[in-house]
Amino acid sequence: MSSTTVERTLVLIKPDAVQRGLVGEILSRFERKGLTIDVLVKRMMDADLADAHYAEHVEKPFYPPLKEFMTSAPLVALILSGDTAIEVVRTLVGATDARKAAAGTIRGDLALSNRENLVHASDSPDSAKREIALWFPKA
Ligand code: PPS
Repeated sequence: MSSTTVERTLVLIKPDAVQRGLVGEILSRFERKGLTIDVLVKRMMDADLADAHYAEHVEKPFYPPLKEFMTSAPLVALILSGDTAIEVVRTLVGATDARKAAAGTIRGDLALSNRENLVHASDSPDSAKREIALWFPKA
């Protein structure tokens, strides 16, 4: 019998996806895979939350346009759970640069940019823990 490792991960369905009407399509892909939506909210990311969420990137040259984009319009934040959910979700989402993301992934099928790339997903257990605490302190 194979063992399971249930994890939780933080996903942001970014403003471009909300504006393009892709929230349902993206959630459907996660649900069809077998992941569970634990909690979900539509809200704005303000400047302080952006700086905290992207703390490791604030000094990088791409951070100003990233912050501008992420705080420009509402996004959908959620916690997904399931067996090895952190890696599974990253695989479903695809490479950061959507121009290079594999066909079959969310970014590979639906986006063409490394800024407007539809989805953020935690990249490690430490990131997931930190990001879930930031977005959903009671969860
Ligand atoms: S790094 O330095 O390799 O860790 O960065 P990377 O993982 O490639 O990207 C981190 C997040 O920055 C976004 N990004 C950009 N936003 C706007 N403009 C440009 N040029 C740009 N390049 C990268 C990228 O989409 C990642 O966002 P998240 O939300 O983490 O997916």
